[in-house]
Amino acid sequence: MRGRKNLERMAEQQFRGFSRRVRGSGTRAIYFDSAATTPEADFSSRAMQRAKRTLANVHRGKGDFSKITSHSFDQARKTALRFINAQPEGNYAVFVRNNTEGLNLAAHIMQSQPGITLVSEMEHHSNILPHQERGKTGFFGISKKGAIDFSDLEAKLKSHKGGVKLVAITGASNVTGYMPDIHRAARLAHKYGARILVDAAQMGAHVPIYVKGNNSVSHIDFLVVAGHKMYNPAGSGFLFCPSGLADSARPFMPGGGTVVAVTKGKTIYSKGPERHEGGTPNILGTIGFRAAMIGLKKIGLKNIRAHEMELTKLALHGMKKIPNLKVYGGFGEKKRVGVISFSVKGMDYAELARQINEAGVQIREGCFCAHPYVHRLLGLNEADATRLVSALEKNPNAPKPGFVRVSFGLYTTPEEVKKFLVVIRKIALRAKAA
Ligand SMILES: Cc1ncc(COP(=O)(O)O)c(C=O)c1O
Repeated sequence: MRGRKNLERMAEQQFRGFSRRVRGSGTRAIYFDSAATTPEADFSSRAMQRAKRTLANVHRGKGDFSKITSHSFDQARKTALRFINAQPEGNYAVFVRNNTEGLNLAAHIMQSQPGITLVSEMEHHSNILPHQERGKTGFFGISKKGAIDFSDLEAKLKSHKGGVKLVAITGASNVTGYMPDIHRAARLAHKYGARILVDAAQMGAHVPIYVKGNNSVSHIDFLVVAGHKMYNPAGSGFLFCPSGLADSARPFMPGGGTVVAVTKGKTIYSKGPERHEGGTPNILGTIGFRAAMIGLKKIGLKNIRAHEMELTKLALHGMKKIPNLKVYGGFGEKKRVGVISFSVKGMDYAELARQINEAGVQIREGCFCAHPYVHRLLGLNEADATRLVSALEKNPNAPKPGFVRVSFGLYTTPEEVKKFLVVIRKIALRAKAA
C-alpha cells in the first residue's frame, strides 16, 4: 500500500504537464495507449533542458561544451547496459532511433551469418520484415491461447537443414501483452547453436530486464528498447548486441563518425558501437533517454510491474463480467504486461473504438502492426488470411479485421480502470440490446 502511494506520488510529479482534457468536451481524458507511445516525464525534460545550456556535437571538438556533451552521451551507453543488467564486456549498446531501427540493425549484423532466422507468429511487423528482407526466414507457432508453442520452436530448431542462426521473439506482445519465457527460448536457441533476439519494446517501461551474463545458457544475445515507450520523446533507443558480431558486420549506415581513416582508395571502419551510428546522433534525446532509464530504476521496475499487474487484474476481472465482451489471449495478469485487446460481439471494432474514444478513453484499434498474430487470434486460417491479403492488394482500403486495445502506464490509476469498465459495460449492453 505504501509502495503504491509512493508510486502514485512520483507519477503525479513526473507527469504534471500531461494534458488530461479531451478537446471540445472538456472531459478529463484517460490515456490508455501507452503501448503506442508514452508522454515525456519530468526526469527526461529536465535532463534535456540542462544539457541544452552546454550543447555541442559529440566527439567532434576539444571545446568545453563538446567535452561536457560527449561525456553525458557516453554515460548513456553505460546506463543502457546497466538498465538491462548486462555485462559490459563483450557487449555493446548501439544507439538507434526506435525499436524498428534496432531490430533492423540486429538483422543486419546477423545477415552474413549462415543459417535461417526463426520468428514467432506473434511478432510486431518490425520483428518480421527486417529478417524477411535480409534472408531466409521461418515462423514458429503459437498455441490456441495465443502463447508461444515451445515444442514447435524446438522442432523447428532441430529440423532446419543448414541450421538456425537467430530466434527472434517478443519480450511482451503489443497485442495481448503476453510475456513469453524469453530465457526458456534462449536456452533452446543456444542448445541448437542459434542466437536470440528479444524485441523488448513493451518491456522497457514495465518489467525489469535481465539479459544475464554472457556465459549463461539462457543469456539474451540481442535486445531492443526505445525511449518513446519509456517516457522520453521519440528518436532514442538502443540495441544490445555481442561486440564481436557487431565489429565484424558491415557498417549499418556508413558515413561520418563510423571510421578511423578514409583515403580515396581505402576506408578503415571503427570497431565499437559508433561503427553503426553514422551521422550526428540524437544527442539531447539520448541524454533524456538516460535520465528516463535512471528515473525508472529509481521508481523501481519491480514496483511499476506490481502496480501495472494490479491494474491489469482489475481490468481483466471487470471485463470478464461484461456480457458480449471477448478478451484476446487466455492469460492472467502474471503472464502479461498491461496490454489488453478485446471486442464486443456483433459490433464493428472501429465503431467500438469511436465510442470509447468519445467517452474520453484514449485507446487504439486495428491490427497493431502484427497481422499474422491478429489473424490467428481471430481464428482466421491460412486460406482466409490469403483471401484477405488478395483483397487488400487489389484495394488497400478494403476492410481489415481487428479489435480494440487498452494499455497502461505507471501513471494509470485504478480509478481510471474502473471508469473505463463503466464505459465499456454501457457500450456492450447497448450493443446487445440493439
Ligand atoms: C512489440 C513492438 N515491437 C516493435 C515496435 C515498433 O516500435 P517503433 O515504433 O519504436 O519502431 C512496436 C511499436 O508499437 C511494438 O509494440
